[in-house]
Amino acid sequence: MKYEHLPHLDKELLRMKVVVFSGAGISKESGIDTFRDEDGLWKQYDCDQIATPEGFDANPKLVLDFYNERRKNLLNVKPNHAHLMLAELEQWHDVTIITQNVDDLHERAGSSHVIHIHGELKKVTSSENRLDPNCIKDYPLDVPIKVGDKAADGSQLRPYVLWFGEYLSGMSAVCKLIQDADIFLVVGTSLTVTPASNLIYHAHPEVPKFFINPEEVSIPSGIEYIKAKATDGIDTFIDRVIELTSRE
Ligand code: OAD
Repeated sequence: MKYEHLPHLDKELLRMKVVVFSGAGISKESGIDTFRDEDGLWKQYDCDQIATPEGFDANPKLVLDFYNERRKNLLNVKPNHAHLMLAELEQWHDVTIITQNVDDLHERAGSSHVIHIHGELKKVTSSENRLDPNCIKDYPLDVPIKVGDKAADGSQLRPYVLWFGEYLSGMSAVCKLIQDADIFLVVGTSLTVTPASNLIYHAHPEVPKFFINPEEVSIPSGIEYIKAKATDGIDTFIDRVIELTSRE
């Protein structure tokens, strides 16, 4: 980490609240498909069939097969430089990652404060009550979830992921974290899915904000656009954080 070149600075005095909002693009270079790029999942599959409670009721096997494939694929991927740098940044700052991603690459990179607003592929839950804490549990990625497998409440087991039309819990806490950020980074998201896409508006107008994406996405003014892949853009972001820190 380039901070090592600033040995005279007191680590504790420098600590800032860095809040990161990540999407599928950050995991793309690890080999996980995004949703809306040319080769994205929603170009290959009908999201109404795959990612809605109605689709699951109509054809649970189709939905489970889709998620079983995604779950199995997690065993073959690794965090990339972007995940790793965000984890390393914790040595210097209080970093919270709010992710739309259902993979666990931020955790595997070493990030210790990760909030999954769209759920987690490595967990399963009840199809009757998705948010029942008694039913949410870790489930081995190499074991497919089958029609007939039961959750603790006796209902069909399902992946612990959010589907379209389902309630997005924890948003007020997430908004508060973003409001309190000293530095805000948005990386690898098309900002198409609401209400998550509106989170970007919650950061304080005066805090430095950054947006990493190799493609053109419409974003509010006052945000520095780092037009690069996550693994390159993250180095520019870290440079900016160091500049901000050295200025304090
Ligand atoms: P999208 O697929 O909508 O957007 C991915 C974004 O990543 C695009 O804007 C790409 O330009 C960008 N991108 C591609 N490669 C990249 C790279 N190497 N580095 C950085 N950025 C890159 O994915 P999300 O915005 O995450 O929800 O999608 C949000 C939600 O929509 C998902 O969580 C999922 C989906 O439907 C549910 O399933 C509920």
